[in-house]
This record gives sequence, structure tokens and C-alpha cells, in this order.
Amino acid sequence: MIAKKAVVIDHLTKTFDDATALADLNVEIKAGELFGLLGPNGAGKTTTINILCGLQEPTSGSVRICGFDVGNGTRKVKELIGVCPQEPALYSYLTGRENVELFGSLYSVPKDRMRKNIDALIEKIGLTEDANRRVSKYSGGMQRRINLAVALVHDPDIVFLDEPTAAMDPQSRHAVWDVIRDLNRQGKTIILTTHYMEEAEQLCDRVGIIDHGELVALDSPAQLKAQYCEETLEDVFIQLTGKRIREEPK
Ligand SMILES: Nc1ncnc2c1ncn2[C@@H]1O[C@H](COP(=O)(O)OP(=O)(O)O)[C@@H](O)[C@H]1O
Ligand SMILES: [Mg+2]
Repeated sequence: MIAKKAVVIDHLTKTFDDATALADLNVEIKAGELFGLLGPNGAGKTTTINILCGLQEPTSGSVRICGFDVGNGTRKVKELIGVCPQEPALYSYLTGRENVELFGSLYSVPKDRMRKNIDALIEKIGLTEDANRRVSKYSGGMQRRINLAVALVHDPDIVFLDEPTAAMDPQSRHAVWDVIRDLNRQGKTIILTTHYMEEAEQLCDRVGIIDHGELVALDSPAQLKAQYCEETLEDVFIQLTGKRIREEPK
């Protein structure tokens, strides 16, 4: 049987006035795959995620999600995907639970199903005790975790996570990993970006390393380590992208 393609990135290019964010990116991600998009600061990870979700238009090239062209803005794509953006997008004067409920209602999730989903999600991300506090009182890590619940409330088949564990303590990070593993076990396709190579090595079936908007490697962590004769994925990453420090894009 031919594995179904969840995401097809086809000759994707994105240029801004003073920067080329993506230069002819081509990647196919299979249904059920846990895929890591890796790269130094400014490599084009967030731009890729934004285009995959229909939040930004490519300059050229196309993206298909389960065969649907993202550029057409079809409702089907929106139903299929969930996105956890790099910067938490939450209403700070609402509680954590209210935020998740609000986004659930935007997706027309039936009320009784939503309640069950939300209780389970909030428990998994370890926010049961704080669910009824305003998000403005949350720490950065708590905001990122509730943002993850927001991304998942409509039970999407394909989940995009842009640095879901950035600046988290080990406990929060493990809670997020458990959620990610759980989702993948349920057969969902997950595309995540991360700066933590150990995280990518532990979680991902395959990783794509990009630099300056171009794909420089694409394979399983084990294959990449074997191919580049390195002991860790971090060493492979440094071998391919160099030691020069890159500043985070504004
Ligand atoms: N809205 C924008 N306007 C101008 N340049 C941008 C914009 N968004 C991203 N860029 C540039 O595109 C490149 C890729 O950025 P980004 O996708 O955010 O990288 P990453 O997420 O890998 O750190 C960077 O050089 C960044 O400065
Ligand atoms: Mg980014």
C-alpha cells in the first residue's frame, strides 16, 4: 500500500523585501509521521509553519494538506489542522479554560464533546488546578501549555507545533512530550520545530534540517547520525549548519 501523504511542500519560496525566508523547499510528510523541522534562528521554520497553516502566502510554490491546496483557503484544511504558534495567541483577560472553550466554539465543536475534550486536555498539560485563573497570571510555560490545548481542542488530524517546548522547565517539557507522543499514537501527523536536538532525536521519526530557507538534510535521526558519522543529532546539526551564532528574527 502507498502511504498517504499528509503534507506536500512543493517548490516553496518566500521572499520579503530584504530577506529570502524560503528558497525552493520540497518536503513530503506521510500521514501519521512525527516530523521535526530543525534549523538555526532565521532558517525559515516559522515561515514554513505559517504557510502550511495558510497564515502567510508563499511567493511561489504550493502546499497541499491531505491533497487539499492550502492556498485555496478551503474550510476543509482548517478542520484538518491545528496550530500552536511560536508566540502564544491567547486572550489574557480570560481564564485558561475560557480560552480553550472560545477557540473550540469557533470550530463549532459540540458543547458536550468539548467539555470532555477540554477536561482531558487540561489534565494532560498539568493545568487542572490553574484552569480557572486568568491567563495574564500564567507563567510563560503555562501560557505555552494552554496554547497547546487551544491547538488541539477540535481534535485535528494534523498538528503544527512551532517550538512547543521553548524555555520550559523539564517537568513542563515532559508533559508536552507526553501529549505529543499520545497524539502520534492516535495516528495524528505532527510537524514540530525545535532548537532542542535531544528532543528531536527522542521524538521524531524523521527530521528536515533547513538553513537559509533551503533543505540541507532529510532523514531519520539514526540515519543522519550514521551518514554524517556523528554520535548525536546535535553534532550532525552543527556539522551541517556551522558554528556561527545566528540572532533570532524580530
Ligand atoms: N514578516 C517578515 N518581514 C521580513 N522578513 C521576515 C518576516 N518574517 C520572517 N522574516 C525573515 O525570514 C527569515 C526566516 O524567518 P523565520 O521563518 O522566522 O525563521 P525561524 O523560525 O527559523 O527562526 C529571517 O531572515 C527573518 O528575518
Ligand atoms: Mg521561528
